[in-house]
Amino acid sequence: MHGFDWQDGQLHAEEVPLEVIAEQVGTPTYVYSAGAIRHSFGRLASAFAPLAPHLHYAIKASPNLHLCRLLRQLGAGMDVVSGGELERAWLAGTPMADVVFAGVGKSDQEIHAALDGRFSPLRDAAAHLGAPDPAGRGPVGLFNIESESELSAIDRVARELGTRARACVRVNPNVDPHTHEYTTTGKEENKFGIDADRIVPLFDAWRDAPGVELVGLHAHIGSPVPTVAPYLEATRVQLTLLDDLVARGHRPTILNLGGGWPVAYQEGEVPELEAYAEELVPLLAERVREGLQVLLEPGRAVVANAGILLTRVEHVKRGRAKSFVVCDAGMHTLLRPALYRAFHFVWPVAWEHAAPRRLEHPGLPDLEISDIVGPICETGDFLARGRELPRIVRGELLAVFSAGAYGMSMASNYNDHGRVAEVLVDGAGARVINERQSLAALLETERQARELDLAARAAVGA
Ligand code: LLP
Repeated sequence: MHGFDWQDGQLHAEEVPLEVIAEQVGTPTYVYSAGAIRHSFGRLASAFAPLAPHLHYAIKASPNLHLCRLLRQLGAGMDVVSGGELERAWLAGTPMADVVFAGVGKSDQEIHAALDGRFSPLRDAAAHLGAPDPAGRGPVGLFNIESESELSAIDRVARELGTRARACVRVNPNVDPHTHEYTTTGKEENKFGIDADRIVPLFDAWRDAPGVELVGLHAHIGSPVPTVAPYLEATRVQLTLLDDLVARGHRPTILNLGGGWPVAYQEGEVPELEAYAEELVPLLAERVREGLQVLLEPGRAVVANAGILLTRVEHVKRGRAKSFVVCDAGMHTLLRPALYRAFHFVWPVAWEHAAPRRLEHPGLPDLEISDIVGPICETGDFLARGRELPRIVRGELLAVFSAGAYGMSMASNYNDHGRVAEVLVDGAGARVINERQSLAALLETERQARELDLAARAAVGA
């Protein structure tokens, strides 16, 4: 169940026609289905149920507060990679104990806020934003540590604050996930994690550190990972390390397998999620019985197919070499096609026939081949290239499928376009969960220039 289907010639999000959303909210707009999110989260939980994993939603996939709150209601913890996402988790009602803080570049400021809410950048704004005062919220449940430099920073800040951080060390297992090179994270040439042969010495060196307790291992090898084998390989590396740690007298109790879980952007493109679980569960079940706690950090698998991007066709241009369908959404709205050549199925919202198969070649008669492009002044600004589509006319609405993950979160203001609206549909109801950004809001931070007090610096140096 994806939450998006044609009824009476019109694409609906659950029971709401997308045409009505476009009329009321305008375009481009991201539209999410609450039912589809509940379904995919439930599916992950049941596939891995034999391991009783803690599921931490990777906020970066689709950060909207209302989506985070929906996932909280379903029991999700949160996986955050910045001070900003940390505060979002808080605003979504997540107790800090249910937050995992990952990311290669944690600043001292972010570490302070993650350990002690008195340092939250939202101290003054939390009440206005509908959250309790962050002071006294306590430290995050876990850090995922990416380097020894970060480990010493966390240890130092925690000691200063008179607390002790709990952390997993992120292993770089040197495994190829066979995904796009920009989202490959588990090979030794990638910036993420610590080489496997340095893990045990690291635990030894930081044994009984006053500011950090090392409680387990983390790995995230890439996103998305289109086959099961790399997970098995990475997990075996982690299990060997767990054994080595125990042999050295450490007591690791947590194994975090990260995210990257599969999503079909085209029908049948990747194995079903259950196939991943079926192979991983036997590797881990015995350890879980012995007390190992498994964590997963799914983002895409929860929200990708629970969202579409609704866009209107501004112009159709039939050139000598090819035809272009020029939309009001582009690389500033959905960057994935431009950045990774990612495939997103695109189809008209008004469609009288049986639902098309979500494939690059839908196998229907009378299709025309066009590039579906945006308004941005770059040739790389496309949503799809060489795509078979029914004849499109100016003013028509198109749906860009599987846009619920890394769509809105990677949007920009390029060419001075405001960030787009977001709508959440639940059954027959629909709510705007993010207002379209006005041009005035976009320009606000540039309204007035502020003189730097350079004399003060000179005085310090003197
Ligand atoms: N955990 C960590 C440490 C991660 O770095 C990520 C994603 C996740 C979990 C969630 O992965 P997921 O389950 O969503 O695949 N912008 C790219 C994806 C970048 C993923 C970054 N890290 C895209 O649009 O495909």
